[in-house]
This record gives sequence, structure tokens and C-alpha cells, in this order.
Amino acid sequence: MASSSSQQPHVCVTGAGGFIASWLVKLLLSRGYAVHGTVRDPCNPKNAHLRLLEGAPERLLLFKADVLDRDALAAAIAGCQGVFHVASPVPADKVLDPESEVLAPAVNGTLNVLQACSANNVQKVVVVSSTAAVYFNPSWPQGRLFKDETCWSDRNLCMENEDWYSAAKTTAEETALEYGEKNGLMVVTVCPCIVLGPLLQPVINTTSELLIYITKGGPNVIKNLPWNIVDVRDVADALLLVYENVESSGRYICAPDRITTKNMVNLLKKAYPNYNYVNCDNQDYESSILPVTSEKLRNLGWKPRKMEETLCDSVEYYEKAGFLQDVEGCPCRLPHLFHFASDE
Ligand SMILES: NC(=O)c1ccc[n+]([C@@H]2O[C@H](COP(=O)([O-])OP(=O)(O)OC[C@H]3O[C@@H](n4cnc5c(N)ncnc54)[C@H](OP(=O)(O)O)[C@@H]3O)[C@@H](O)[C@H]2O)c1
Repeated sequence: MASSSSQQPHVCVTGAGGFIASWLVKLLLSRGYAVHGTVRDPCNPKNAHLRLLEGAPERLLLFKADVLDRDALAAAIAGCQGVFHVASPVPADKVLDPESEVLAPAVNGTLNVLQACSANNVQKVVVVSSTAAVYFNPSWPQGRLFKDETCWSDRNLCMENEDWYSAAKTTAEETALEYGEKNGLMVVTVCPCIVLGPLLQPVINTTSELLIYITKGGPNVIKNLPWNIVDVRDVADALLLVYENVESSGRYICAPDRITTKNMVNLLKKAYPNYNYVNCDNQDYESSILPVTSEKLRNLGWKPRKMEETLCDSVEYYEKAGFLQDVEGCPCRLPHLFHFASDE
């Protein structure tokens, strides 16, 4: 383990080996931060890429910590001025035990991180939530054309729909903001939509699996839904921006763009004609699904790239990594998290 000097600003990133967190760690290192990254298993090869990042030998320390392990979290957070809480399950498969697989790590995990932050005099915590904690609000007033940060998903509705991921993200974000208010801890949340872009980690995460499915095609016909998409590199920028900006407060939606399945397929087909692509229906869902707005984040100075660049960089990365090749016995699958988009 490398040592890091106490001169640089120290920050902790939970779940450092994941898709979004890896890009955040890379960005933080490039900006001169000393980073304490938590991973559940420092010896697992799926986390090896972290040690190869520029600046990692000098300024990255990895700590073994499950978010349900308070002592391990406290050890990782000690000495840090800021914490980025990114770790939370994004299940690809159908959830069989919601409490242990999703709800407890998301909600109790967030509380454990925040308590460790209070105990270690952390100055600011950035919690990664999701637009899943924004969208599902049947009481949103008719006539308001965008969903903004005042819109909260109804967690009971999410539970009734067995949408455990959205229920967990909503409850975790509410818990985080309430904890911050009650305990005088500065907590800011960021709510990204579907995050795509090149991977730094070797293991395919759930949202990348969605675009791989759309590109390769598979057994399920996909609805022509509008998808909100953000680039993973722009999410990392947003997280650092809200951390560094002394004015930031509350929640920030991080969802710059949306595109229907059909338009996405057409855009990609032009650049990469040799894939099968998913079959999608012809219905118009777009006009009945309200968009979300990221104006609050843009007003802070966030400048996301164009969606075309994100989609093309993603597919080019998948090509290079061999993710688009057929593997015998492993048919391409639509992650269960997105089963709402399938006709089955
Ligand atoms: N990707 C998206 O489209 C998207 C959109 C909105 C919000 N988000 C949020 O962004 C965050 C990161 O997601 P991602 O897309 O980067 O997915 P990811 O690559 O699957 O990362 C999830 C991370 O959480 C860690 N984790 C899960 N359960 C844990 C536990 N009990 N203790 C410690 N670590 C645990 C995982 O560690 P292991 O490797 O050990 O499993 C992994 O590092 C999550 O909070 C997610 O809800 C993602």
C-alpha cells in the first residue's frame, strides 16, 4: 500500500472499483487529490485497474470495506475532508431478497457512511443517488413540463411495483439529506440517469450491459421508450463540481439528454452498420413521458458532452474490449433492471 502525504486534500470514494467510481477516482487523482478508495475485496482482479491509474502509486490507498461494516468505513474515512459515497448495488438479475440484496446496503450503508463522516469531522459528503429517486411521482402537478429536483419518487409505489432499486435509491437519498440537516453535516446528492461511456473496470456493469444488448440485439423486443443518458466522464465531473463548489446544496439531477430506442439504434447503425441491433416497437411513448431537467447542475457550470459522443465512445470501447462478440452458451441478455422496456 502506498503512503499519501497529509499536504494534499484527502477524500474517500466508496465502491471505488465500480463503473462511475473508477472514473471519479481517476479524475480526483488527476486533480491532485489523495484518495482513500473502499472496495469489498482489494485482491480481486476486478479492482486491479485502480492501481494502474496515473497518480495511484503515490496518492491512492485502497481500504477493504463493505458499507455494512461501520468500523471498516471509519478506518477508510479517517483523515478525509470529503467523501463521495458511490457504493450501492445496481443489480443486473431479478432481486430475490430485496432487503439484503438492495435495501440494506443502499439505505443502512448510506447511514453508516454518514455516521462515519460525522465521527471524523468530514466537511462535505457527495452522495450518488439516481433519477430513479426522481421519476416515479404520480402526484407531480399536471402542466409542469419538466421534473426537477423538487420531484421525488414515491417509495411506497416503487415497493408495490417491486422496483426495489428505485425504492432503495429514493429512501437512501431522503435519508442522506435528512441526516445532513439534523446533524449539521453538509450533504449534497447527485441524481444521474442511465450512465454510459467507456469502462475503466474489467467487469461489465449493469447499464453498460443495456447498451450492449441494444447494439447486439437479443430475444426481447424493446419498447421505443425515451432513455435519459449521461456520460460517465460527465458524471465524474458533476460529482467533483458539486464537491468543490461552496454554493452547492441539496440535490442535482444529472440527465442532460434523452433519445428513443429507435433513434439510438438509427444513430448507432450509421456509425457501426455491422451489428444486429435490437428490434423495437413503433409506439410513441415520448410524448407521454415527461423529461427531467439538469438546469440546476448546468447553472453550477456543468458542461456535459453531446450524447452522440457518449454512444459512439461506448460502442467503440465495447468493440475493443470484445464485449460485442458472441460467446457460445451465453446469449446476450437484457438486465432485469430494464425489464420494463421489454415487450415480455
Ligand atoms: N450506472 C448508472 O446508470 C447509474 C445511474 C444512476 C445512479 N447510479 C448509482 O451510481 C452508483 C455506482 O453505480 P455503477 O453504475 O458505477 O455500478 P457498479 O459498477 O456496479 O458499482 C457499484 C459499486 O457498489 C459496490 N457495492 C455494492 N454493494 C456494496 C456493499 N454492500 N458494500 C460495499 N460496496 C458495495 C460495488 O462493489 P463490488 O464490486 O464489490 O460489488 C461496486 O463498486 C450506485 O450508487 C448507483 O445506484 C448508477
